[in-house]
Amino acid sequence: MDFQPILDLLEKNGQGHVLDHIRRLSPEKREVFCRNLSALNLPLAFRLYQNFSRQKGSGTHLPNIEPASIIPTSRTPEEIQRRQEAIRLGESLIRGNQIAVLIVAGGQGTRLGFAGPKGFFPISPVKKKPLFQLFAESIQALSARYRARIPLLVMTSRENREETEAFFRSRGFFGLGKDQIHFFSQGMLPTLTPGGKLILGDETSLLANPEGHGGSLKALHESGLAGRLKGQGISEIFYCQVDNPLVKIADPAFIGYHRQEGADISTKVVRRQNLEEKVGIYGMVNGKPAIIEYSDFSPEDYRSLDENGSIRYWAGNIAIHVISLSFVDRLNREGFALPYHRAVKEIEGLGPGGRSEKMAGLKFESFLFDSIPLAQKSCCMEVVREEEFAPVKNQTGIDSPETARGAMTNLFRRWLEGAGVQVAPGVQVEVSPLFALDQEELADKLKGKKVVVGEDSYFG
Ligand code: UTP
Repeated sequence: MDFQPILDLLEKNGQGHVLDHIRRLSPEKREVFCRNLSALNLPLAFRLYQNFSRQKGSGTHLPNIEPASIIPTSRTPEEIQRRQEAIRLGESLIRGNQIAVLIVAGGQGTRLGFAGPKGFFPISPVKKKPLFQLFAESIQALSARYRARIPLLVMTSRENREETEAFFRSRGFFGLGKDQIHFFSQGMLPTLTPGGKLILGDETSLLANPEGHGGSLKALHESGLAGRLKGQGISEIFYCQVDNPLVKIADPAFIGYHRQEGADISTKVVRRQNLEEKVGIYGMVNGKPAIIEYSDFSPEDYRSLDENGSIRYWAGNIAIHVISLSFVDRLNREGFALPYHRAVKEIEGLGPGGRSEKMAGLKFESFLFDSIPLAQKSCCMEVVREEEFAPVKNQTGIDSPETARGAMTNLFRRWLEGAGVQVAPGVQVEVSPLFALDQEELADKLKGKKVVVGEDSYFG
């Protein structure tokens, strides 16, 4: 293999430190390093770096943003009836074995700082079940409820694939069939220093990062999985992120609305808590639905109120979607490209002294929601934050394991109290998906029983 073109590319892009490193390697290691280099899309990383550098400080905001039309939480008799119809439709699709569940778990979880993939994090309030186990148990319970076959798709990165598969294997796939779970990997891009330099990961490779959850749309196709699912009769994918333990997996109402609307992609949103909360907003840009990052709003627009004094752009994205397989297919056939975003995060790489050290790393990532404007039709549904969204992002403070456990225990407490159970203040409660998937099922299971919860309790 002729590595000269790659070496020239490094030279041309000011990566002399990598060339110096290569020169110091033995011929065997040099060969390995250059092979690893050629597996990465270096030209793309350099191009993205240059484009972003040129944009620096421009501070432009998107013009022509408008609120979008969103299916509200059902209150009027018409809304309640429509919801019932959506649920029936969604349930019929699940029963018809047309729905698969995709969990994107390729991220590096730098903010959480947990040793291991985020899906291994022991999250549940009493049993400390890992995130992956909660999702797998929900799928097991749904499969039993609807007598359906629901494939679980787990997207990993190349760096956490082996570990993730081994985790599922060692836990007996959490009760799912081995052939019900499909692992696939997303692409990686080189991580740069904020000054645009490549970083050594170890002696024979560069540091690279998974290219964002937007990579799932490509990876589904390129891995051949989308084609195989289509062959099995799957028509829609329920998409969620590994770090939200409150996700209502394969929510029939959501799937039903998606179908009723004939959407390519659908999104769940919650109300922004206050004017300060920084979230991606579901809105219209130039007449097309999109998720708009808060930094793309002018500060006045982001804080604006409507005629009733409520937050005008209230619809915060919680990264739960239904995606039609036909949309995935069309995007890939049309050679789509999602835009890349830039983020600076703390990473660990080899410093100039050849020792591993923490430093700032520049990552380029594409986001799944950037596919929404490419859809012919999309749909959006409002849900209640306390029932469906408690992300685990940070070690402490907001969006941490502590807040997520608090949200879980509060939700289960409301379910129990709704079923007539007395729960003492301050105790932790957990309901296994295998015991009850929702409040109605729990009430049904506990009907006629006198239950009092005076200490931390698990219903499983
Ligand atoms: P985040 O954007 O929160 O990133 O991912 P992260 O990697 O988990 O955490 P930080 O930012 O490094 O602290 C949201 C979801 O998207 C997945 C993550 O696994 C998580 O489920 N994701 C993220 C991918 O699957 N691939 C990626 O390249 C990035």
